[in-house]
Amino acid sequence: MKKKKRFLSGITPSAADLHIGNYFGAVKQHVEFQDKGEAFYFVADYHALNTVHNKEELENNILNVFINFLAFGLDPDKCIFFRQSDVPIVTELQCILNNVTPLGLMKRCHAYKDKLEKGASEESINMGLFNYPILMAADILLYKSEVIPVGEDQKQHVEIAKELARRFNHRYGKVLVEPAVYLKKDVAVVVGTDGERKMSKSLGNYISVFADEKTIEEQIMSCVTDPARVHPDDPGSPDKNVVFSYLDLVHRDKGEVQDLRERYKRGKVGDVEIKKLLLKSFLGYFAEARERRKRLKNDLDKVRDIMHRGAEKARKVAKKTIEEVRESVGLNVFK
Ligand code: ADP
Ligand code: TRP
Repeated sequence: MKKKKRFLSGITPSAADLHIGNYFGAVKQHVEFQDKGEAFYFVADYHALNTVHNKEELENNILNVFINFLAFGLDPDKCIFFRQSDVPIVTELQCILNNVTPLGLMKRCHAYKDKLEKGASEESINMGLFNYPILMAADILLYKSEVIPVGEDQKQHVEIAKELARRFNHRYGKVLVEPAVYLKKDVAVVVGTDGERKMSKSLGNYISVFADEKTIEEQIMSCVTDPARVHPDDPGSPDKNVVFSYLDLVHRDKGEVQDLRERYKRGKVGDVEIKKLLLKSFLGYFAEARERRKRLKNDLDKVRDIMHRGAEKARKVAKKTIEEVRESVGLNVFK
């Protein structure tokens, strides 16, 4: 039988909330990959230290992101789901990788370069940001991952991991596995409720998945609709009404959405009616995940147990790799 490929991806707990862009653009695919190979997922809390500087906020984010991903369907029996800092060996690998990392390569990294180009001074950029790609390479290489599903913005980082594995292997022999990037295909880039930009937490143009119903209703009611339409019986253009694009994602009856589009064009349906339908479909689509999240929130012992078991499994794999790495570089005297 063909050996299953090993997938790995990290999720930075930079916020506690998740929106439908995160779900359709990333999480849904993570859940699907559990059945396609040997999947490793982790909450990249060391990486979050770069942007989250408040202790309570970070703790809250880590816990919520962990719970949210379980609620969406990451199954600890199907994948290894853990927290990055539960396997601190990753920082040892980062330390070793520092020595095969050219300074010039780091200086060409987007995250750092973008900051400089936006006018940040070198004094204001910390080494956590500068070294970010080396830590990410350590994440990838420690688990001998083969396929890394990420968004376009993380592609360069995976290529750096590949380059560092190549350099390490060239110097010390074939120990590390060169990973390949898997760019998400066929996943929606979800437009924000402003109808213009990509949905994003930082832009505030999002619909949360796990907020209370009242908040979700407000977010849906604030969606931008065709501005040329003043009265409900004015003909409208469905393409200028962002609510339709969300209905395409969450409303199960595709024929009904098509029919609504036609009625909208003829001025036979009001915006509020469409938004109400979206709210109902939205809550239906995510009902199971929302319910699961509620249960997990009320059973933190179970969450802790899942986190600890995930860490144990990850540590086992990590230990094996770091032993090989120590041995190959010459750190194993008297062992
Ligand atoms: P945000 O922009 O809201 O801070 P993140 O950068 O934390 O979101 O993104 C986490 C994951 O969700 C990434 O893999 C990213 O590709 C995906 N993602 C975020 N926003 C969207 C969107 N509007 N459409 C599709 N995917 C998205
Ligand atoms: N930097 C990634 C992000 O912000 C998260 C991440 C950390 C990651 N380590 C990783 C993704 C290793 C893939 C592989 O989205």
